[in-house]
Amino acid sequence: MFTVKSLLKDWVSSRSMKSTFDWLDDRTGYRGLLKEVLFESVPGGARWRYVWGSTLTFGLMVQIITGLVLWAAYSPSSQTAWESVFYIQHEMTGGWLLRGIHHYTAQVMTILLVLHMGQVLIDGAYKAPREVNFWTGLILLLLILSISLTGYLLPWDQKGYWATKVATNLAGVVPVFGEHIQRVIVGGPDYGHHTLTRFFALHAGVLPVLVMMVIVGHIYLFRKHGITPAHPGKKKRRDGWFWPDQIFRDAVACLAVMMVVLILTLRHHGAELTAPSNPAERFPARPDWYFMFLFEFLKYFPGKSLIIGGLILPALAVVGFFAMPIVASKWPWGHKANLIYSGGFLFIFATLTAMAFNHDAKDKEYQFAKKIAQRDAARVMELAQSPEGIPPIGAVELLQNDPYTQGPRIFASKCASCHTYMGHDGMGKPQNEPSAPDLYRFGSRQWLAGFVDPDQIETIKYFHGTAFVEPDENGKKSRMVRFVKDLENLSEEGKAQLSKIVAAVSAQADLSYQEEMDAKDAALIQEGTDLFFEGIEGVDATCADCHGFDGEESEASFTPDLNGWASRQWTIDFTKNPSHPKFYGKNNDRMPVFEEEKIFTDKQIEMVVDWLREDWVRFASGDN
Ligand code: HEC
Ligand code: HEC
Repeated sequence: MFTVKSLLKDWVSSRSMKSTFDWLDDRTGYRGLLKEVLFESVPGGARWRYVWGSTLTFGLMVQIITGLVLWAAYSPSSQTAWESVFYIQHEMTGGWLLRGIHHYTAQVMTILLVLHMGQVLIDGAYKAPREVNFWTGLILLLLILSISLTGYLLPWDQKGYWATKVATNLAGVVPVFGEHIQRVIVGGPDYGHHTLTRFFALHAGVLPVLVMMVIVGHIYLFRKHGITPAHPGKKKRRDGWFWPDQIFRDAVACLAVMMVVLILTLRHHGAELTAPSNPAERFPARPDWYFMFLFEFLKYFPGKSLIIGGLILPALAVVGFFAMPIVASKWPWGHKANLIYSGGFLFIFATLTAMAFNHDAKDKEYQFAKKIAQRDAARVMELAQSPEGIPPIGAVELLQNDPYTQGPRIFASKCASCHTYMGHDGMGKPQNEPSAPDLYRFGSRQWLAGFVDPDQIETIKYFHGTAFVEPDENGKKSRMVRFVKDLENLSEEGKAQLSKIVAAVSAQADLSYQEEMDAKDAALIQEGTDLFFEGIEGVDATCADCHGFDGEESEASFTPDLNGWASRQWTIDFTKNPSHPKFYGKNNDRMPVFEEEKIFTDKQIEMVVDWLREDWVRFASGDN
């Protein structure tokens, strides 16, 4: 019987195969190399504690492979970087997985570096004759941290943009040459496109090549001196072999690393991508978690002293590590001192990191900014995935022209000094002393029903704090307030009539979220329109005495015209000029005539109005 297996076996052990391998060995000497690589003696036997170096090599391989594939889809320019990362994350098959693995492997490698170094220090593997090897290791550590730092900027999103801006500003504190160094790193006088191209060249070119070169030296030196046996004093264990004893453990450890990376990637569905970078839109800059300790540390060095915290002390700390092998060989207590130094460093690192995160958790401003940033990020993802997609000028435009994003910002900066929106400033900050109506769902039946409610008209939701509730020289409040106050003792019939008028006036607003209700209540709205002119049971004045409506104009002066009340155009015109005779005329309380102030573009007024009307592009997925 011939099975595939037996056939294969015959083939490999066949004469012709053997002679092929012989030929290959003769030409390349691969057998000797293989033997050299695999049959390394491991003094004291294979151990789990030796796996860290291998996991790091493995991590680096993963980074090179995933990095190259990412490169194939990445486009480093200030107008395309975010867009291409968005493509990788959301359009490319498996792109999010690829990016996630690249991102989380970098994170995990930082931890592996610490573990590897910890093992080397504790086992005394940095002492003579392995000094040079230890130094190459430290250089590798610094290089890999630099790769992480430069990688942070590449998505060109808000997070990377602002964090890197802080980092590159740090270069400016170097005395005398600071400005020049900063210029070289940033790629000119301004932080921007050329910073990105430079960082990409560093991240994907210069630094990896340096790492490869140093790693070759590092591994060569490691092989030259061999493993430093752990616990040399203890009773001797039998020596083992690199293959298969240690390799087996290394492989299991690499697998475990891969598992951790995969779990992290799947849990977060790839790496975070915040909104496209926008120099005009401040963002709470924070570095990746392993640099947070430095971020916290720098808070203690304001102004000119930054050079101490940002340059001198970190440089001294690094020099301290480089000096370790010398310290250990010079003094009998050297090794202990080194361990205490490293432990102390780790302790400070951990404490500062914890403090940094703790401060952020308690910092209301930061939490607030973070929430807005998350809202923007979620929104821009949706807009970019809409059928219109990303405009040719780039994704920043998406948020720039989006009422959902810009409306609340404009409101907070231009309207919230007087108005509120659900009691806050539009962005979510509480506004406790409003002096103009709350504009949440302005124009809706609900809003208007409250406005004509004698119990509500003078509250902070409506006219509280305005001139309309202040008695004039005759001791009288404004006409509308007096009129509404007189609605106190309406009969049941009167109440029903008032709510029909409310429906009729509110229908003018033509609100999309009220569309169905308006269509359903067409008859009721007609009744309400009639009652606007005929009046309410038990009330002398009619709305039409003072307001124009249903195509009619009113004789009364300085009363808002309710034709098209709260419609898009009405609200835009009102916001541009509330003092127009059609609106409040000379009775306008403090609302600015924005048209004259010219602090706004028409587009901005439209966006804030569309936001108030909740007219923005909607998507099936989100709650917006
Ligand atoms: C300096 C205070 C102030 C600012 C700033 C202000 N308003 Fe007003 N606004 C008022 C007052 C007071 C009223 C009440 C009517 C009046 O006096 O014109 C009002 C009325 C309104 C109304 C009519 C609704 C009603 O209840 O009468 C709208 C709509 C409106 N404002 C929109 C805005 C928008 C949009 C902005 C920002 C772009 C804004 N306002 C900025 C004070 C202000
Ligand atoms: C006696 C005259 C008078 C009567 C009657 C009257 N209003 Fe008014 N209304 C005003 C005046 C004046 C204002 C401007 C605020 C002020 O000065 O009190 C106003 C403001 C309003 C506004 C706010 C406009 C804005 O800025 O958004 C609405 C809405 C409104 N009235 C609806 C009604 C309705 C509905 C009725 C009938 C149920 C009615 N009014 C009856 C005089 C009147």
